[in-house]
Amino acid sequence: MAPKITKAVFPVAGMGTRFLPATKASPKEMLPIVDKPLIQYAVDEAISAGITELIFITGRNKRSIEDHFDKAYELETELELKNKTKLLDIVQNILPSNVNCIYIRQAEALGLGHAVLTASSVVGNEPFAVILADELIDANPGALAQMIDVYNQTGSSVLGVNEVPPDEVSSYGIIKLADKSLKYKKIEKIVEKPKKENAPSNLAAVGRYILTPRIFNELRNTQRGVGGEIQLTDAISEVLNYEAIFAHVIEGKRYDCGSKLGYLEATIGFGLKHPEVGNEFREYLKALQASL
Ligand code: UTP
Repeated sequence: MAPKITKAVFPVAGMGTRFLPATKASPKEMLPIVDKPLIQYAVDEAISAGITELIFITGRNKRSIEDHFDKAYELETELELKNKTKLLDIVQNILPSNVNCIYIRQAEALGLGHAVLTASSVVGNEPFAVILADELIDANPGALAQMIDVYNQTGSSVLGVNEVPPDEVSSYGIIKLADKSLKYKKIEKIVEKPKKENAPSNLAAVGRYILTPRIFNELRNTQRGVGGEIQLTDAISEVLNYEAIFAHVIEGKRYDCGSKLGYLEATIGFGLKHPEVGNEFREYLKALQASL
């Protein structure tokens, strides 16, 4: 049986330049969608897939993420005094008690591959998950749980993928499948940010990975690639020389919250589903559409 996946790495040390000035003093992963920060959606997805160790790779603005998942004594006392039990419950139950957080600092934002390598001593010699919180996936079961199913059947690394429009392939790691007819989709090749005319398909890696520890060996030898960054995709491409890697086409609605448009779409998607404001928001949007 394949070893159980209990650890997830959350790289949150990027510069988030596309969201400046919002990301000047706070990580982009703390941007809220309605009333929850992106990182909490990602953590909830991991926990619902059975993850119990959360490893955050943080950068210069790490404080707010640590504070978010820590106890907030003053706030809790205040809410208790004011008898705001529902809010107190929300604040106290951000993480279940069996879940641990570990924070590691990535001294320099040298790229996603470098961020993942920073987790190697804590992950150790076992398979683990990587979740990019700025890729928000609305799915049931969650995207990572879907991928763990494939991992449990194959015992191999699994990449979460989605089709993207041909014009967008140059923003992603793009995969080529070995044989589309297989039950589990084996990956033949992966390339980081190919030009549209060179892309082997339009299946993109969308911020969800289950990786074997072999990735660390390859990351140690990975040179700077596209954009001068140490790319996770390049190391995955090396692992393919030694191990099978499978793709799972994620069933669900994906929002690229690293881009302004994707972020706005997510706000609308989650706003419409929100138990407190969803109905009123729908009415508002209808009226707005009529007036456009
Ligand atoms: P992005 O490529 O979206 O980069 O990183 P970014 O710096 O966050 O955003 P822009 O492009 O400047 O707006 C993908 C993910 O990898 C993390 C980011 O935090 C994000 O979750 N990352 C990236 C790191 O943790 N470290 C790095 O060195 C680079």
